[in-house]
Amino acid sequence: MSREAQRHILVTSALPYVNGAIHLGHLLEDIQTDIWARFQRLRGNVCHYVCADDTHGTGTMLRAEAEGITPEAMIEAVRVEHAKDFADFLIHHDRYHSTHSPENEARCALIFERLRDNGYIFTGDVEQLFDPERGLFLADRFVRGTCPKCGADDQAGDNCDNCAATYAATDLIEPKSVVSGAAPELRSSTHYFFDLGQFEAVLREWTSNYVQPEVANKLAEWLDSGLKAWDISRDAPYFGFKIPGTDDKYFYVWMDAPIGYMAAFENLAADIDGLNFDDYWEAGSAFEVHHFIGKDIINFHCLFWPAVLTGSGYRRPTRVHTHGFITVNGTKMSKSRGTFINARTYLDHLDPEALRYYYATKLSGNSDDMDINLDDFVQRVNSDVVGKVVNIASRCAGFINKQFDGQLASKLESPELWRDAAAKAEVIAEYFEAGNFNRALREVTELADRANEYIAEHAPWKLIKEDGKRDLTQAVCTQGINQFRLIMIYLKPVLPGLAERSEAFLNVAPLSWDDLDAPLLDHTLNAFSPLFARIDSKDVDAMVAASTENETPPETSDAPSNTTSATSDDAGADAPSTINIDDFAKVELRVAKVLKAEPVDGADKLLRLTLDVGDHERQVLSGIKPAYDASELVGKLTVVVANLAPRKMKFGTSEGMVLAAGPGGSDIFLISPDSGAKPGMVVS
Ligand code: MSP
Ligand code: ZN
Repeated sequence: MSREAQRHILVTSALPYVNGAIHLGHLLEDIQTDIWARFQRLRGNVCHYVCADDTHGTGTMLRAEAEGITPEAMIEAVRVEHAKDFADFLIHHDRYHSTHSPENEARCALIFERLRDNGYIFTGDVEQLFDPERGLFLADRFVRGTCPKCGADDQAGDNCDNCAATYAATDLIEPKSVVSGAAPELRSSTHYFFDLGQFEAVLREWTSNYVQPEVANKLAEWLDSGLKAWDISRDAPYFGFKIPGTDDKYFYVWMDAPIGYMAAFENLAADIDGLNFDDYWEAGSAFEVHHFIGKDIINFHCLFWPAVLTGSGYRRPTRVHTHGFITVNGTKMSKSRGTFINARTYLDHLDPEALRYYYATKLSGNSDDMDINLDDFVQRVNSDVVGKVVNIASRCAGFINKQFDGQLASKLESPELWRDAAAKAEVIAEYFEAGNFNRALREVTELADRANEYIAEHAPWKLIKEDGKRDLTQAVCTQGINQFRLIMIYLKPVLPGLAERSEAFLNVAPLSWDDLDAPLLDHTLNAFSPLFARIDSKDVDAMVAASTENETPPETSDAPSNTTSATSDDAGADAPSTINIDDFAKVELRVAKVLKAEPVDGADKLLRLTLDVGDHERQVLSGIKPAYDASELVGKLTVVVANLAPRKMKFGTSEGMVLAAGPGGSDIFLISPDSGAKPGMVVS
């Protein structure tokens, strides 16, 4: 396996606003970043991941006032909560900082002074609405009034809900300040501008090389239509950092926010020996800086930010990775539908790794929007993580532990199978590197399918009963465990918790990419305990219910009802005529092979079938005797409902049900899969 030289990488996710809780949208971004960062570390690279809360602005000031606390106290409480939400999703930020930090204040001042001294800053007068009662300049969202186009009243300061017109707040008819209700006046004030236009050539070159192609196209449109100077100041009162050399001017929140990436890293570097701020940020650095962002903020990250860095003598980002927006069940996240789901609400009901896995299957490295379908989520995680991956270990662990004292054999049964899976390393690494986690996982689930097929073909539960096959049984199970170990290395960035539990079971040091070099042989395993729990769709329903706001209360009216004549079709819960996909997903269908079929004494219709269902044998009593001769069934493949609760019958216990079609009696036909199917395969 070829090894690249060790890289030094700093990664960031966009800094969440302090004014709201972490939700599924933020999680998409930080889970994506975390998977990428963990992948880099797994490969032996140095990778630091920092983030922070984005704290400044008039909104923070007003909210703290309303709550009667200082903005500092408020933002610190939120920062702690945000950091905990992320950590509970196993998102490992090396530092979760705040833009309201001494490092950020100093760095903002330094960058501003450099930009000014280099001739990129100028001042100009701006007319803006002003709240005379509060003595406050009003951003668009703090003004409401009548739409200048259609006359609808109480419309926002920048666009009309009624006719979709966009306009300037100063165009509103009868505007009102949202803060005090007063009629705002137009006032002029001096603002500071960053002269973005001077960076056009640099930006054209940078944007055509260091962002995804669709993002580059969008940026090219903006570059073609001309770069306007950027207003980077706001008047007092404002919660933020004062601009050096002024008394009443503050940096606009979007000026200090990206500098917050540097500040968070500086704060981290101060705690770690040998970690040096300048090594990462000086112009010409060979170390890497990667930003992960959503597509709504590409102008800030791909135009302003590289220009600010260039103008103040720093390096530009190695790459900006842009993702799309999520919708839930096909529509924008909605509080009334219960699909505006906060991180904490999710955690109250579901396993964080399930979301990590599902998001990974959705991310392809482009900026397309993606839909989170909750039924698909349940189905996908259960079928891939539990049904495919964990299944490999659980099928082999029992034999190794019970029959061989936990000892793995000294040889694999099929070294090629292992080598083939290990040889996928570079392809999978390329997919991870490119953010195409979807394709990486498809490779991995294919390997899991092959491992399960291998186990079904070699049937250790049969081998162990055959004379002279003990060593072979051990080698087959050792093979299975080794396929599982390989797969866990590939999955470790996505499922770090499962990887850790697997390491404990495998009794090995933390897995790394180097462990792909050799299989695990002559080694003692620890006891196996279940590694991952299936998602129960009831928990998803409970999460949606807990996220639903403004639910109409159930009707409790005791007035005489005029709907009592409803037909029995309306009986509702009593008589469901359809099942949903979740109900169906609960049915576990497996291919089974009839090993034995015997008539049952005293029963006219029953045959006692002994079935091979892949990893074990089962006895099923089936009413197919009128249709089949017992002897003709032996060796036939059929489909069995494998998770049906065992049923005690007069003639014994039936452990499942075989599927058949037909009206009954002698007109019954056993459902049989194509001859290529193997016992134990899941029917999907
Ligand atoms: N504070 C700014 C970022 C400053 S970075 C120097 C901001 N904050 S945010 O809280 O609104 O968004 C943080 C990140 O979450 C952004 O990258 C944004 O695109 C992402 N998302 C927020 N909602 C999202 C979805 N519904 N779907 C996917 N990502 C979304 O912007
Ligand atoms: Zn209108």
